Amino acid sequence: MYQTLLASLENGIYTITINRPDKLNALNKDVFTDLNTALDEIESNPEIKSVIITGSGPKAFVAGADISEFNSLNKEQAKALAKRGQDIFARIENSSKPIVAAVNGFALGGGCELAMSCHFRVASDNAKFGQPEVNLGLIPGYGGTQRLVQLIGKGKAMELLMSAHMIDAKEAKELGLVNYVTTTDTLLEHTRKILDVINSKAPLAVAGCIKAANAVFNESIDGFALEIEEFGNTFDTEDMKEGVTAFLEKRKADFKGK
Ligand code: COA
Repeated sequence: MYQTLLASLENGIYTITINRPDKLNALNKDVFTDLNTALDEIESNPEIKSVIITGSGPKAFVAGADISEFNSLNKEQAKALAKRGQDIFARIENSSKPIVAAVNGFALGGGCELAMSCHFRVASDNAKFGQPEVNLGLIPGYGGTQRLVQLIGKGKAMELLMSAHMIDAKEAKELGLVNYVTTTDTLLEHTRKILDVINSKAPLAVAGCIKAANAVFNESIDGFALEIEEFGNTFDTEDMKEGVTAFLEKRKADFKGK
């Protein structure tokens, strides 16, 4: 199904592993094509409740866009590449199913941007984050200038963008870029445990949380009005009736995603 990804589905968690370890999982055209196909699968397969994105090998999550594809590009082609990357990362960000990055090493350039497009991040203690594009005479093109400011604030983001300085997992956690730091051995297990909890909740309500929280960063949407709308929508769902009834009956709710 994929040329550059490994994928497996277990207990409702679809784990996507970017699999170009000899190139530190750099994002080339094939990876983008595969990620787009994976997003179709995530949207259409009801057995997928949530998703983990990680990288293959011991060193890298994703060490950036594939720099070897850059030399032949003119200005218009570069803009098209950025647009394609942004569109795919926006699909990740706006996915109605939770998508979490398990960052297992270098998350640089497009790799940091990919991790930031996920709903949140868990990192192993060898992870390194950075936007080193200025080293190459470029700027981030897959949403990095926007999401880094959103996630860690303007001052620190400006410094990282302008200096190409890499930060380790500990600093990334202090800055709010990652939620947890684990050992390399426990990264996936820890991330799965978080998703097991989320997967036990009402899926339509989880999707409503994602949509409403994302609205904070979309100037064309009134997030408070959207929250009212989504809150109301939950009252039309079987899961809301089940959740409230289960609470009153002092039992565990059994959500169906309806
Ligand atoms: N694009 C294409 N190839 C990449 C790559 C990228 N972003 N990052 C790493 N690679 C390749 C290297 O060219 C090398 O390939 P080779 O063995 O065929 O020569 C292989 O991956 C291993 O990388 P190497 O540089 O030898 O590993 P290292 O441990 O010495 O250094 C990094 C690791 C991450 C510090 C270094 O690879 C690096 O700086 N990568 C580029 C990061 C970057 O600028 N990303 C933003 C791109 S916009």
